[in-house]
Amino acid sequence: MSDQPPRLVRVVPGGPVMVEGPVCIELPDGSTVESDRFMVAVCACRRSKAYPLCDTSHRRRVRTDQGSVQSASQ
Ligand code: FES
Repeated sequence: MSDQPPRLVRVVPGGPVMVEGPVCIELPDGSTVESDRFMVAVCACRRSKAYPLCDTSHRRRVRTDQGSVQSASQ
């Protein structure tokens, strides 16, 4: 067992998996994506255009009566 504290991984309901960075994410095809951010949002919904990183596409969008688009709460 390492002397370092366990790495925090937080699952956001309906959203990404938040992982303390930096990280190197290996995809099923063997390719890798690296992020040196302090906290990295890994997409769990597969809708992200930046997959495997979350781009907030998991948020549902609703159209208001005035025609504008707002994010709906989770
Ligand atoms: S979890 Fe955010 S875009 Fe997929």
